[in-house]
Amino acid sequence: MDAIAPQPGHCVLELAAGPGDTGFLAAELIAPGGTLISSDVVEEMLEQARARADELGISNVEFRTIDAEWIDLPIASLDGVIARWGYMLLADPAAALAETRRVLRPGGRVALAAWTHPEDNPWASAPTAELVAIGAVQQPDLDEPNMFAFHDPQRIRDLLEGAGFSEIAIEQIPIVFRYPSLDDWWDTQLDLSTSLALAVGALTPAQRDDLRDAMDARLARYVADDGSAALPGRTHVTAASA
Ligand SMILES: C[S@@+](CC[C@H](N)C(=O)[O-])C[C@H]1O[C@@H](n2cnc3c(N)ncnc32)[C@H](O)[C@@H]1O
Repeated sequence: MDAIAPQPGHCVLELAAGPGDTGFLAAELIAPGGTLISSDVVEEMLEQARARADELGISNVEFRTIDAEWIDLPIASLDGVIARWGYMLLADPAAALAETRRVLRPGGRVALAAWTHPEDNPWASAPTAELVAIGAVQQPDLDEPNMFAFHDPQRIRDLLEGAGFSEIAIEQIPIVFRYPSLDDWWDTQLDLSTSLALAVGALTPAQRDDLRDAMDARLARYVADDGSAALPGRTHVTAASA
């Protein structure tokens, strides 16, 4: 949010907003006179975001169904665009970034977050690493659209440059995900990822037990004596000017 420097009167778009919390941080900063457009391609996500905005008492926000690869907004109509953990999931991130630049005014800012390498993010990568180890799934192609597709900062830079952005800055921010126990972490992962739930669902009960044992061993160094887990993660945070 700092990277797009929201000012009173600004119009800010959040793409792939999910429940919208990141964009809501801008709402107060752009008041009075500014508007936040909170968007996602999934209608159910917008419903969640609307409910969350009501809960927070945020009124200077519009909700739109927008596909990040084809942004249905006028040229040069925005001061800032943010997307936390969105662009790397897209089939055509180059198209999405070109669209982003089209809707930004000259000098407008984009800020995006994208996960670094799977090895930096055991909170998310441990299950796939163990599923690959037991031959239950194939090694994912990190260049395909997926949560780690922007792990290489050079790819982010190339995409932004290709879309015509300048003043590109990329930094890395560590994040610690805390859970009361590894059981809680595991339940959350199965809730978050349909593909993981499907892969685990296809295992025999014995294979599932082996998988949990292997993950518990892999993640043991992040578990405290009281059983709570503090799993490391790392994300790129990138900003650029249109
Ligand atoms: C990992 S979630 C991130 C949600 C939110 N930005 C956050 O940080 O909590 C990815 C979001 O991207 C949305 N998404 C996926 N494909 C999209 C597309 N083509 N256009 C816009 N949103 C998309 C999903 O519906 C989901 O809400």
